[in-house]
Amino acid sequence: MGKILITGGLGYIGSHTIVELYNNKYEVVIIDNLYNSKEEVHKTLETIVNKKISFYKGDVRDKELLRKIFKENNISGVIHFAGLKAVGESCEIPLEYYNNNIYSTLVLLEAMKEYNVKRIVFSSSATVYGLCKEVPLKETAPLDATNPYGRTKLYIEGILKDLYASDNSWEIAILRYFNPVGAHKSGLIGERPNGIPNNLVPYIAEVAAGIRPYVRVFGNDYDTKDGTGVRDYIHVSDLAYGHVLAIDKLSKVHGLLIYNLGTGNGYSVLDVIKAFEKASNLEIPYKICDRRPGDIAASYADPTKAYNELGFKAKYGIEEMMEDQWRFQEHIYIK
Ligand code: NAD
Ligand code: UFG
Repeated sequence: MGKILITGGLGYIGSHTIVELYNNKYEVVIIDNLYNSKEEVHKTLETIVNKKISFYKGDVRDKELLRKIFKENNISGVIHFAGLKAVGESCEIPLEYYNNNIYSTLVLLEAMKEYNVKRIVFSSSATVYGLCKEVPLKETAPLDATNPYGRTKLYIEGILKDLYASDNSWEIAILRYFNPVGAHKSGLIGERPNGIPNNLVPYIAEVAAGIRPYVRVFGNDYDTKDGTGVRDYIHVSDLAYGHVLAIDKLSKVHGLLIYNLGTGNGYSVLDVIKAFEKASNLEIPYKICDRRPGDIAASYADPTKAYNELGFKAKYGIEEMMEDQWRFQEHIYIK
């Protein structure tokens, strides 16, 4: 069995996926340009899995580097995480988002074709469901994008579909992630946002650590159980395991497969704050603020297809997600 090339493997979801792959007897090669990650994660991963892991520092858009990686390693498949991911930023610098996300995917697919490696798992997002109001979201829900980041995901899904239509020997899995949170149980890897966190859970953790005074709750007049936004939070290790199942599946079937990766449970902003308080034993002050532009009331997955076809089922509940998030962030902030 060849190795799996992990683009963006030192990032948040990539690093957790590498741990799950090694737990399941896979070996990997990493490429990452360190744009949003630290080189020390490479060593930490080697410590966690207790194996040497090949790491190439560089950009997925560098075709010569990709050729070198395919020549030097026996690669049987690719999991493509590398990309930029902040919705707000994508509205300010859309060209960087199109260049990084779409161009990198094209260069990668061309190199894969050249070396006859036709198995790829792609990180898509629930953002491709746009403003769709019909929850739970099934994979067949209408697709739309409301910002440049979302459009990059939608376009790449389209590119993969066209590629498969042109040559059905490709084995492609598109995974639409809901809201990954938490960290590996070791507390050694997790997400380290730069600057002010955009996402709810890292923001709550900074309030817990005393770095920010209170959580800004973006609206309490949505049509949800307590008026605050509802999302499908999924433990990053559960999400990571979904990639192992997807790679296993692609080794058995040719095809283009699309799965939601979520728990199917929706939690409100206030539910999450409460769960974090319980997990950390700290009080989390919050203030109700205006709605954040572009947010929708509720987004959660129908996880049935991933369960039926991959056997995917999230193990961790909301409190464990918060405990693990806090274990990691406490270790960064409170030394
Ligand atoms: P991350 O920023 O932590 O990881 C991405 C990694 O890719 C980083 O280590 C970065 O340095 C690297 N990278 C970026 N551009 C690169 C390039 N051109 N060449 C080489 N390396 C590059 O992000 P993440 O949260 O782990 O997300 C991984 C993927 O999942 C992304 O494609 C993201 O859009 C998607 N996704 C994330 C979320 C989420 O909430 N985290 C939700 C849905 C989808
Ligand atoms: N929220 C707050 N305060 C904050 C941050 C968020 O109240 O400081 C609320 C939001 O209004 C929303 C919920 O918390 O109701 C979750 O917000 P996040 O920013 O954590 O996550 P989103 O669902 O908005 O966005 C995430 C990813 C996007 C992706 C989207 C759909 O960050 O990249 O899921 O998959 F596009």
